[in-house]
Amino acid sequence: MKKRLFTPGPTPVPENIQLSMARPILHHRNKDFEEIFAEVNSNLQYLFQTKQPVLTFASSGTGAMEAAFVSCLSRGDTILNIEGGKFGERWTKIPQAYGIEVDVLKIEWGKSATAEDVAARLKANPKIKAVVMTHSETSTGAFTDVKNLAKVVRDQSNALIMVDGVTSVGAMEVRFDDWGLDTVATGSQKGLMLPPGLGILAVSDRALKARETSDLPKFYFDIKRAAKEVAANTTPFTPAVSLIMGLQESLRMIRSEGLENVWQRHAMMAESCRRAVKAVGLEVFAEKPANSVTAVKVPSSLNADQIFKSMRGDHGMTLAGGQDHLKGKIFRISHLGYYDVFDMVTVIAGLEKTLSDLKHPFSPGSGVQAIQQFLTNQN
Ligand SMILES: Cc1ncc(COP(=O)(O)O)c(C=O)c1O
Repeated sequence: MKKRLFTPGPTPVPENIQLSMARPILHHRNKDFEEIFAEVNSNLQYLFQTKQPVLTFASSGTGAMEAAFVSCLSRGDTILNIEGGKFGERWTKIPQAYGIEVDVLKIEWGKSATAEDVAARLKANPKIKAVVMTHSETSTGAFTDVKNLAKVVRDQSNALIMVDGVTSVGAMEVRFDDWGLDTVATGSQKGLMLPPGLGILAVSDRALKARETSDLPKFYFDIKRAAKEVAANTTPFTPAVSLIMGLQESLRMIRSEGLENVWQRHAMMAESCRRAVKAVGLEVFAEKPANSVTAVKVPSSLNADQIFKSMRGDHGMTLAGGQDHLKGKIFRISHLGYYDVFDMVTVIAGLEKTLSDLKHPFSPGSGVQAIQQFLTNQN
């Protein structure tokens, strides 16, 4: 059976990226690697829309977020974390592990923080040194309006703006410089279409300045050390050489498609998926959904496990489930990375067959038809 991955990380790896990583390994302290890394670094700046350094760690995306916290914060600092899901919770736990006071702005899972919510918290707590936000909360499929919230923070305080862009970078509009962001993190196994293993972090001048006075313990995840080396197109420690070779190819693909076209493709896939879900009589979970993953509510008449089993066992399509209290309540369809709108037709066709087999009442073909109608109306 043909296997198809519809999970929001790891995401499918295109063949040309696989071939790129299969090239003979290089030693990282020589010109061949430096040339590759120079191209990668310049294309990472394009990806994040920044002139600032973009740092690459041999870690997952969480490592890049940890680098931001330990490098920019100090003992006794208070930060504000907008927490509306599993990943938001992590950005409370990591700073707390380092003794940082976290003022948690709790958002009901599936909902998104508003400008008023953030403005009120900043007003109530003028000591806030940084505001953390998760652009695409993968656990719920919810979107956070980083552009707008960053403006609120900038207008009202000097707090650093730290963004989890793990499932937004390379899928949704991110403009590091124009939006005045201070750190944005991602991981290789998401929009970059690579296997897991790279944590990537864009850092502003303000973040690098905060590093000068930061007194939290740090060594590997030190942005100062990494920024110094990246300026010479190298890394302080052994980089994940083969993944960087894959990243070179991934960024070439993104460049040749054009970043705005990449965002547009994700917007089209997300809209197709949402329309199809509604057409088969199901409901999208998030109030303001992100364009990287669609979380779908499981109605009480259906069983989430049966949906997964049928999708995977009968059709070879792996979906993601719900986490924590959403386990059994939602399933998630990814459209992050190496997909196009016709992949959405495929996953919806699979879902329709599963729903028919599980006796869900709907008109077979209605989901696929909703996508076709949407595509037809685009021209
Ligand atoms: C929004 C978000 N943030 C952070 C992470 C953590 O990234 P990693 O698993 O690469 O550490 C993930 C992973 O799925 C994610 O989706």
